[in-house]
This record gives sequence, C-alpha cells and structure tokens, in this order.
Amino acid sequence: MSNDHPLLSIRSITRRFGGLVAVDGVSFDVRPGEIFGLIGPNGAGKTTLFNVITGLIPPSSGELTFADVAITRRAPFRIARRGIGRTFQNIRLFSDLSALENVQIAQHIHERSSTLAQVLGLPSARRDDRRTRARAMELLELVGLAGRASEIAGNFAYGDQRRLEIARALALEPQLLLLDEPAAGMNSSEKHELSAFIRQLRDQFDLTVLLIEHHVPLVMGLCDRIAVLEFGKLIALGDPASVRNDPAVIQAYLGDE
Ligand SMILES: Nc1ncnc2c1ncn2[C@@H]1O[C@H](COP(=O)(O)OP(=O)(O)O)[C@@H](O)[C@H]1O
Ligand SMILES: [Mg+2]
Repeated sequence: MSNDHPLLSIRSITRRFGGLVAVDGVSFDVRPGEIFGLIGPNGAGKTTLFNVITGLIPPSSGELTFADVAITRRAPFRIARRGIGRTFQNIRLFSDLSALENVQIAQHIHERSSTLAQVLGLPSARRDDRRTRARAMELLELVGLAGRASEIAGNFAYGDQRRLEIARALALEPQLLLLDEPAAGMNSSEKHELSAFIRQLRDQFDLTVLLIEHHVPLVMGLCDRIAVLEFGKLIALGDPASVRNDPAVIQAYLGDE
C-alpha cells in the first residue's frame, strides 16, 4: 500500500436528525500511519461522524470504505472486528467493574472459545482466560494503570478513565483508533503527556489515529493533517500550518480561542 492510498475513505457522508443536518456531505481520506485531527466548534458534527464511521448510527447517505472494504451500515461489532477501535467523548466504561475487567470484556470480541465452553468451564475457555488476562495486563501497563488493575473503574479520576478507555480500545487490536476528545478534563501537563503517548502508540502499534480535540495547541502540535467541520460541513483540510492560517477556520473556530 502506498502511503497516500487511504486506509479510511469517507465519501459524501450526510447524517440528518429530523430537520437538522448534523453531518453534511463530508468527504475526506485518512492515510495509513497518520495522526489526523478533526476539529470544529461544539455541535459541528464531529462525534456524529465518529458514530457513523463506527456503525453506531447509519448515515442518511454516503459511503465508507476501510482498508478497501465497504463498511457502510455494518454492525458496530463487525466494524470493530475489521480494525476500527474508539473511545467516547462521554466515557463509556463499566463503572462497577475493575479496570482489568473493562479491558477483558473488550477482548471477548476477539476471543475464539465459545460462550458455552466458558459456562461449562472447559479447558479451552480457561486457557483463553489466562491469555486475555495477561494481554489485558500488558495494555494496562502501557497506559500506566497496571498497579490499579483490580480497582473499580468508576473510582478513577477523569484522566485515568480516559486512559483506561484507550487500553480497552487497543484490546481489539485496531488498525485505526478513533479518539473523541481524549484530553477533555486533563490539565496542561497531562495533555502534554497524552500527546506524546498518542505518538508513541502510533509508532509502537503501526496505528492510524483519527482524533477529535478542542485544545488547539495539542492538535496543531500532534497532527499530520487536520479537517475542520462547521455546521456539519467540511470547511478546511490540510496540514496544521495551512489550516491555522485559513481565514474560514479563523472565523469559525480559532478566532474565538
Ligand atoms: N442522537 C441525536 N439526535 C438528535 N440530534 C443529535 C443527535 N446527536 C447529535 N445531534 C445533534 O447534531 C449536531 C452535532 O452534534 P455532535 O456530532 O455531537 O457535534 P460535536 O461532536 O462536533 O460537538 C448537534 O446539533 C447535536 O445536537
Ligand atoms: Mg462531540
């Protein structure tokens, strides 16, 4: 695959909610290995676009291709299995379960042994359990939470919950990782660390990252390319310097910082 052959191809995606056009004819490509930023004012349609890409909601029209396969209107678990992982703007952890259990539940999408084998406690299921547990511990280690594996996720500070969500997304061994405002609720030194961490993940796992983020310096410093949405429409696309200097972007978004 040449480097500008797209991993994810978004073609004329529109999503309506009643009379509201939340995403309006958006097209762009995400290339393998890039850290791609999606920015825009509140309500611009960023999360809605993530929800369409990951199959949580269907588009009203338009097409999505991932690694040369059409994924439009596929079920979320099928899209996840194909290699798209995500985190949520409104954190969606099982708050009554431990950090380790949260990661292990995600791994079950990948596991081979049947539910019946597990219920019966068959050896194949026990072997899988040991393997998923070791793998889950590695992922917790990676996000700096290994020492807190048995703590209840709901008791974690905001920033730690966000890192746990990243570990859970990585449990699916994605090729493409979608992060919806991962730095929300973090202080500036945590944001700085997160930025370095995202770059490390990209390099270590050969990941492609599509990132929604409000903190402009973080986006500008981290992303290879940036797309800007306003009222559901794509108003700019390019490298950080050209997007930063785009008059439409300054007007819509950067101007009010
Ligand atoms: N499930 C929904 N039902 C109705 N309107 C929605 C729904 N989800 C999002 N919207 C609306 O779509 C627009 C885009 O929202 P969203 O994608 O969350 O924006 P962003 O993530 O850029 O802040 C907003 O006006 C929002 O109120
Ligand atoms: Mg959002």
